[in-house]
Amino acid sequence: MLKANIAVLVSGGGTNLQALIDAEKSGIISNGSITLVVSNNANAYALERAKNAGIKSRVVLKSALGSQEAFENELIRVIDDAKIDIIVLAGFMSILSAKFTKHYENKIINVHPSLIPSFCGKGFYGLKVHEAALAYGVKVSGATVHFVNEIPDGGKIIMQKAVEIKDGDTPEILQKRIMEEAEWKILPLSCEKICSQIVKEKK
Ligand code: GAR
Repeated sequence: MLKANIAVLVSGGGTNLQALIDAEKSGIISNGSITLVVSNNANAYALERAKNAGIKSRVVLKSALGSQEAFENELIRVIDDAKIDIIVLAGFMSILSAKFTKHYENKIINVHPSLIPSFCGKGFYGLKVHEAALAYGVKVSGATVHFVNEIPDGGKIIMQKAVEIKDGDTPEILQKRIMEEAEWKILPLSCEKICSQIVKEKK
């Protein structure tokens, strides 16, 4: 069966990568296959997850390459070498330039741990997003999957899911609830949606 080749870009723990791997195993993702994991952090636990699932991984370090441009050129080389159809940013903590995002227009998706347009954009990543939501006092937060363009967290929204904020929540507790109830669900579903469109176009 014709499938879209998925590359997942990671930086840390990789629980969203794991959700994608599990979704491919269970058939939630049926039109795509994760064929490459790229990390910009050599110590990312996500690399272990890729290894355990038998998925090829690459580490691309900005520090070793010297500039954002050289870093992105290397990412492009690694991704194009693997004949990738869709790039999933799953906890990838590096903002990509317009040159990179234009190279893969409508081919990059990202999961963000809030309901965009709240608590998003430059500086809002990881726990900082949940700290800001709790400091503001919102009663509902959630997650968003969106296309990636040159504006951080500014591309077209694919899916969103709301998650209740409870009394006594800390950033860590809220992060975990948003991952479990929203991110790990809507990221695989969004990925499958885009993969099925890519497969239709390929036929
Ligand atoms: C996730 O909550 C993801 O939404 C967030 O980082 C975490 C990565 O966790 N991403 C961002 O904040 C991007 N702006 P993971 O490595 O366990 O998937």
